[in-house]
Amino acid sequence: MTLNTDKLLAFAKRISSHAGTIMVEAREKKGFSADYKADHELVTSTDLAIDHYLCQEIIAAYPDHRILSEESSPNLSLDAVPTWVIDPIDGTVNFAHHHRHVAVSIGLYVDGQRLLGVVYAPFLDECYWAIKGQGAYLNGERLWVADGVSLRNALVATGFPYQKNALEKLIKRVSNVLHQCQDVRRNGSAALDLCWVAAGRLQAYYESVKPWDMAAGALIAVEAGAVLGRYDEVESAWPLEINGDSLLVCAPSLYDAMQQVLAVD
Ligand code: IPD
Ligand code: CA
Ligand code: CA
Repeated sequence: MTLNTDKLLAFAKRISSHAGTIMVEAREKKGFSADYKADHELVTSTDLAIDHYLCQEIIAAYPDHRILSEESSPNLSLDAVPTWVIDPIDGTVNFAHHHRHVAVSIGLYVDGQRLLGVVYAPFLDECYWAIKGQGAYLNGERLWVADGVSLRNALVATGFPYQKNALEKLIKRVSNVLHQCQDVRRNGSAALDLCWVAAGRLQAYYESVKPWDMAAGALIAVEAGAVLGRYDEVESAWPLEINGDSLLVCAPSLYDAMQQVLAVD
C-alpha cells in the first residue's frame, strides 16, 4: 500500500491541534467531569470527548484504516491495515489537577511498523512529531538525544502504575536510580517523557506502559537517536512494536549502564 506520509502527518497534526483546543477549553471554560474506570483509573469527560473527536475524524478521512484507542477500542491488535494508535489525553491525572504536563498522542502503524507519531502538549504549546527515517522535530526544530552524559549526571524519568499491588521491584529500581543517577522525575505523561528524551531534557525513561502511551513517543525518541529496549520481561501479548512492557528508552551511551541500574531481584 502506498501512503502519502506528508499528508498523513499534516492530518495527524491538524487533529492533534484541535484535540488540544478541546483540552484547553474544557479546563478554562466549559468544565469537565471525572470518573473512575476499573475502580482506580481516572477518566474525564474530556478524555471521552477527544476520543470521540479523533475517531470521527480518522473514520471520515481514512475509512479503511483501523483505530486502537485507549478509550474506545483497547483490545485491537496490529495487522497489515494502517492502524492509528491514539491516547486522547496522556496525563489525565495532571489534566484533572490543572497541571500543564498533558498531551494528545497519535501514532500510525503500517504492516505492524511505526510510520509516524505526533505528540501535542497544548498547555506548553509543544508539538513533537516524527516520520520513520526522517528524524524527530519539536515545533519544526530537529531533535537529538543528549548522548555522552555520564550515568551520575543522567536525569531519569519513570512512572507508576494505577494499581499499587506490586510495588516492591519498582521501589528498588527507583532507589537504584536515585543512588546512581542525577535524579528521578515522575512527570505524569509517558508520551511526553519519551519526547523529552528525544529533546535531550531527560537522558533515560523507563516504565511499563500500554500501546497508546508509547506508540507515537517511541518513534519520536528513536528518530532523535534514542535506543529503545527492555529492562525486564515482556509479559503482555501485544506485538513488540506497540508493546510497552518494561520499556527502557535512553541515550545510546547509557543503555548498558541503565540495564544494570534497573536489574533487580
Ligand atoms: C498514564 C501516563 C503516566 C504513566 C501511566 C499512564 P494516562 O497515561 O502516561 O505518565 O505513568 O502509566 O497510564 O492514564 O494519563 O493516559
Ligand atoms: Ca496514557
Ligand atoms: Ca489516556
